[in-house]
Amino acid sequence: MSADSSHADDIAMKGGGYYSLATKGAKDVIDMATPLVMRALDGIDLAGHDGPFTMADMGCADGGTSIDMIGQVVERIRAAAPTLPISMVYTDQPNNDYNALFRIVYGMTDIPTALPGYDNVHMFASATSFYREILPPATLDLGFSATAMHWLSAKPGDISDHVQAVGASGRELAAFVEQGRKDWERILLCRAAELAPGGRMVMVNFGKDEQGRYLGNTGGVHMFDTFNEIWRSFVADRVVTEAEYVAATLPQYYKTLEEFTDPLTDPASAVYRAGLRLEHAETRVVACPYAAEFRADQSRGEGDPAAFARAYIPTLRSWTESTFFAALAPGRPIAERREIIDAYYDDYEARVRSDPAGHGMDYVHAYMIVSKT
Ligand SMILES: C[S@@+](CC[C@H](N)C(=O)[O-])C[C@H]1O[C@@H](n2cnc3c(N)ncnc32)[C@H](O)[C@@H]1O
Repeated sequence: MSADSSHADDIAMKGGGYYSLATKGAKDVIDMATPLVMRALDGIDLAGHDGPFTMADMGCADGGTSIDMIGQVVERIRAAAPTLPISMVYTDQPNNDYNALFRIVYGMTDIPTALPGYDNVHMFASATSFYREILPPATLDLGFSATAMHWLSAKPGDISDHVQAVGASGRELAAFVEQGRKDWERILLCRAAELAPGGRMVMVNFGKDEQGRYLGNTGGVHMFDTFNEIWRSFVADRVVTEAEYVAATLPQYYKTLEEFTDPLTDPASAVYRAGLRLEHAETRVVACPYAAEFRADQSRGEGDPAAFARAYIPTLRSWTESTFFAALAPGRPIAERREIIDAYYDDYEARVRSDPAGHGMDYVHAYMIVSKT
């Protein structure tokens, strides 16, 4: 993958409902954010609302993790404004699996959904990146986005000795910091244009908390270092080349709470001048559900490390596989590339199986409510 390649082709989640089944923790995160969504909704005049109420879930994947939260939003709107038409707009990248999304939304899977039961709730999808204005100006009443905006619009360079910016230093790190800043400003300016006056956006984004913790680094085995160690060992074992090692750089950046809030509180910033204001910001940690279950099993004397490893690795694989796959030389036959990638995750699984203590992917997020003046 070249240094300037967009992330868009590389990070689509696996389709067919794989995402929701493999990422139970992401649903826990949205469930935890639901009271903030209700609070944001309370700030909007529903009874006196003019025209349809528009809600969007940006970076929705297959929609399975947000379906309960959206059902609760619809209930709350219905209680305040029984006949208010609601447009529910699901948005993600063009290569997202929108068939899986609509199968879930319309109750054609085993994921429970209340949405088809409501009158006057209209479902739409926009295969448009959140780095663009998705909705017409001043029409969005309630925006939501979870666990998506850490993906950068482009990779600002490769990291020569790690796979994620958390392990970068010097100029390589500085490039990610700057890309993160520019991208965040762009995301916020797009939302400033779309939000109706008085509209709210609730964003739950991976970040670095006040204690320096971030996804998979909350005190146990460091997840990104483990990814890196195994990928590095593949160079030593001549499974991948040095160039392929370096190309496997995740186009992500985890901002601190300050980096998240600065453009919203600095009166001189373009975002502030565009009318966006910070209403709420905090960081929270949500425990890895797989590790939590394993620990609970262990405390009853029943923990099975092999079962834990088998269940846990698919969740890591769902969002990293495309980056490692894309790093492999295009000249390699597809079957060979698949074999390498399978071996990579098999190696990670074997590590967890043989020494499970401390493995897990706790989520560290910044939870924010932003309003439009
Ligand atoms: C980890 S999933 C989160 C899905 C869901 N919001 C949740 O919290 O469970 C990240 C999603 O963000 C999407 N995504 C990444 N970059 C994006 C972009 N620039 N515009 C829209 N969606 C994007 C991915 O395609 C993926 O579906």
